[in-house]
Amino acid sequence: MLELYYGFYATRLYLPWSSLSRRWRRFARRVRGKKDRFLQEARLAQVSWRQCTAPRTVRVWEHRKENGNVRISELGILANLARNCAPGSAIFEIGTFDGRTSINLAMNSPASCPVYTLDLPPDVATKFAIAEGERHMVDKPRSGARCERYRDSHPEVVNRIHQLYGDSAAFDYTSYRDSCSLVFVDGSHAYDYALSDTRAAMSLVARGGVIIWHDYGIWEGVNQALEELEAREQLGLKNIRGTSLVYWRRPD
Ligand SMILES: C[S@@+](CC[C@H](N)C(=O)[O-])C[C@H]1O[C@@H](n2cnc3c(N)ncnc32)[C@H](O)[C@@H]1O
Repeated sequence: MLELYYGFYATRLYLPWSSLSRRWRRFARRVRGKKDRFLQEARLAQVSWRQCTAPRTVRVWEHRKENGNVRISELGILANLARNCAPGSAIFEIGTFDGRTSINLAMNSPASCPVYTLDLPPDVATKFAIAEGERHMVDKPRSGARCERYRDSHPEVVNRIHQLYGDSAAFDYTSYRDSCSLVFVDGSHAYDYALSDTRAAMSLVARGGVIIWHDYGIWEGVNQALEELEAREQLGLKNIRGTSLVYWRRPD
């Protein structure tokens, strides 16, 4: 019941409110001429979340946000996207962290959709340098810990979550190519990773499928990579209004 309430609260109440307060914060910073490392100018065109996915009744689990998690409004939108995934298609996430997004993607998607989630083990050397300030998300006792809380109550859902380990820039994506109706990019925020994870996501997404990036307007590396890509290739990347999500749908 609580999950149903948070599913409603996420997009219907929190999103409009946080959207306003975010605009106000940006405006106030600009007036005061203050720089904030985690508040980037967002130049991509904007779109309402309702134009990205059909609004459905969704459930949001694990509503409490830890430092490193998406906002609850973003979780609500991801839950809607997962709910609308084609049966039998796959979902792929880069950046598991504590598994809050993974469990919500699995809980809301059709029972025939596997959810793959890739994370960097703390002791693995990376191809590129990760961004300053994101080490705490890598150095954790266990990836996907929040998913484990549901193993007894929802074993069929947790069994659909396949945790993968490795550096996203060195991972072999061959078996998942063109099979995903939803790819969520939320790994390292360094420019080189934002670029290489984007290339990986493009190879994973099936025709008619969607890629969502997190942390646009927040991390400089993500902004730079996505804005350069859009300037160069005119793909039609859109920032979902009131969030740090970027949306792209691969044409049919
Ligand atoms: C922002 S957190 C993901 C948050 C998660 N999606 C959520 O909100 O529940 C980023 C995750 O990406 C992982 N990561 C960072 N660099 C990576 C890399 N090179 N390859 C794979 N995963 C990476 C980190 O270990 C961390 O778990």
